[in-house]
Order: sequence, then structure tokens, then C-alpha cells
Amino acid sequence: MSSTGGKRRLLVRDLEQLATPAGTSAPLRGRALGEVDVLENAYVLCVGKSIEAVGRMRDLAPLDGDVEEVDGRGLCAIPGLVDCHTHACFAGDRVEEFALRAAGASYEELHAAGGGIMSTVRATRAAGEQALAEAVRKHRGWMLRAGTTTFESKSGYGLDRETELASLRAVKAAGGVPTWLGAHAVPPEFDDADAYLDFALADVLPAAAEIAEAADVFLERGAFDADQARRYLTACAEAGLALRLHGDQFTEQGAVPLAIELGARSIDHLEATGDEGVAALGESDVAAVLLPASALFLARPMPPGRALVEAGAIVALATDFNPGSAFCESLPLICSLAATQLRFSPAEALAACTVNAAHVLGRSNHRGRLAPGYDADVVLLGAPDWRYLAYHLGANLVAEVILHGVLAELG
Ligand code: NIG
Ligand code: FE
Repeated sequence: MSSTGGKRRLLVRDLEQLATPAGTSAPLRGRALGEVDVLENAYVLCVGKSIEAVGRMRDLAPLDGDVEEVDGRGLCAIPGLVDCHTHACFAGDRVEEFALRAAGASYEELHAAGGGIMSTVRATRAAGEQALAEAVRKHRGWMLRAGTTTFESKSGYGLDRETELASLRAVKAAGGVPTWLGAHAVPPEFDDADAYLDFALADVLPAAAEIAEAADVFLERGAFDADQARRYLTACAEAGLALRLHGDQFTEQGAVPLAIELGARSIDHLEATGDEGVAALGESDVAAVLLPASALFLARPMPPGRALVEAGAIVALATDFNPGSAFCESLPLICSLAATQLRFSPAEALAACTVNAAHVLGRSNHRGRLAPGYDADVVLLGAPDWRYLAYHLGANLVAEVILHGVLAELG
């Protein structure tokens, strides 16, 4: 290990390019979303867990003492990717359901018949805390290999006190940002959604609020309606949690106005959002988190990404990684979908899954950019141009990942 004054130093030198969202403010909206600073023949110097400097090789002053060096020839550096919406804590899989859907069954029909989310709830309840922790660690490894250095994960496959709390602990133990998705579905031991919420708010929320940073609700026909979501989110806000919503995935049920009314951090999905919702989000501080892999995986319409950017909304991109509606942990693939399906420029896609996603997680002052003082989370792409991130569809271009100043073991 190379160190000076107790702090290790890591220099990535001779990079083809270094690309980072421009400016210093967050979140980015409108035209600013597409502004990226690109340095050719660049370096990035990490000291301890922070970025000390970035610049052009010709401006790199000689470094005294021990410095670990990484040869950046043939590589492009971008900020570590931030996945602000995943469901990484689950047991089992839904490969049978996937095959049924290919044969014509719809996601909502499977859910209504007690499959879908509830089949993962059964497997997750049966797994036990240790297996859940192991599952999140495994999924985190997949994400890291795809360039994700910061991930959020929801609970929501326990829906009982023990499994919900075990899920949140497992996410935190794996280095993730835990969100309590206590209102994901109504488990069969309750007569209806209101009875379940009575239990969740009285018996789970106080302990969940000690671990989670945010709360989330699935506001949709067949799940929770706007009044139930308001009740759940209001109680969660009182317990100190940031608010997020799964909204407008299949139908508009008042999720956008509710998110704005409650000052939510984000509303996620938005595949069914119409012009009015787009305009309202454009004027609000509620981030629109777009999940194009979910639309693709369920063969649903894509969310109105271009319209949201043009309206001035705070737009972020995420995988929605989960076993049912988006078995995909790759943010580079999400960038390709954004560029090809949502009409985002590669620059807009990059900002949406770095600085704006960090904003959704309340971390944009130190994550999501390659700049002095930011956390030393860096992705090195094996590509001659950083825009291959979106351009090279389905490729894993991630050559190296620096996590908190250390080259990560990608396995
Ligand atoms: O974001 N829509 C609700 N929840 C998840 C899917 C969960 C599942 O199918 O297991 C989503 O798509
Ligand atoms: Fe989701």
C-alpha cells in the first residue's frame, strides 16, 4: 500500500478521457442536465477516500512519496454510478413467472392471483436473516461489476416485522442505502390494506425509521390507493424519513399530486404519466426517477423522459433491480435505454445516474462527480470515448472500479 501522512494515494494516469457532470450544484435540470466536462489525456488522484485532483496529464505536478499508479491508457473515467432505486433484498427468483409472461400472462394478473410480489414475499420470509444478508451481498457484487458504487435498496418482500427489519439491516450491512418499502403489497394475513397499514405503522415503523433513510409506497390499483399512501407517507415523514413513491407505473392514481403535496424526494416509474403530470413535475422539487428496464422487461410503454427533461423536471435514472419486473442490475444498460428509448443524450444519461441519483439519496454534495472533495468512487471504462457507456449496447465495459479510494475486487 502506498501512503503519505497515513493516507493512501492512488493515481489513475494517461486516461483517454475523464467525463463528469459539469458545475457544482445539484440537482441538475433542463439544459444543465446535458452539460458534461470532458478532459482528454487526463488523470484522477485519490487521497484516502476522497478525490484530491483531476486534470490533464500535462498539468500533473510531480508527486513525492508513495503513490499507487493505475495505467489509464485505453480507459475513460466517469463517476461511480449511483443506483437510487433497487429491490436487492429478496430470496428465490421468478424465472417460472418470467416464462409464463412470455407465454402471455400479464404482470398485474399474476400479482392479482397471489403470484408476483407475493411469491417473492413467501421465499424471502422463509430465508432467514443470514441468507438475506448473503443475497444482498451477492447482488451488490453484481452491481459493482456493472459500475454501481452507491446503491439504494428497498425492503418490501417481508411485510412482517421481523423480515422487514432484517431486510433493512441486510441492506445497510452491505453498504447500501436502506428504504423501507413497508407498503409494497397487502400480505394475505390481513383482510385489507387499511388493516395492514394499522399494523405496519404501529409495529414496524418505529424500528424501521431507526435503520432506513426513506419510506416508499406502491401506489397503484391492486396495491395501495392515494388515501392509504397519504396516511402511510405522512406517518413516515413524522418519523423522520424522506418520502418516495412508486407511482403511475400502470395507471395514474393521483401519485404525482400526492408526491408534490407531501414534498416527496421522488416519484419513481411514471410510465403512465400524462402531460399534466409532466408539467407539474417540471415545476416541482420532486425528482422523477425513470426505470426503463422495468418498462422493457414488462413490455410496457416507456416513461415520458424527454418531455420531463424539457419541462425542467429533476430527472434521475435507476435499474429497479428486482426479481419480477426488472431483473437487471446494469446502469450502463439503463444509459443505453435512456439514449435509445427516452431520447436522452449520453451526457443527460450520465448526469441522471450520477449526480441526480445522488441527489435522490441525499448525497449529491459528495457523490456523483469527479471533482476535488468528492468521494473517490470512480469507474474506468474500457473504451476510447466515455459515451460508449450508452453507445455499446449490452456490453460490460467496466474495466476497473475504485470504491472509496481503493481498487475494488470485481470477482
Ligand atoms: O418497482 N411495482 C412495484 N414494485 C416493483 C416490482 C416488484 C416485484 O415485481 O417484485 C417495481 O417494479
Ligand atoms: Fe421499484
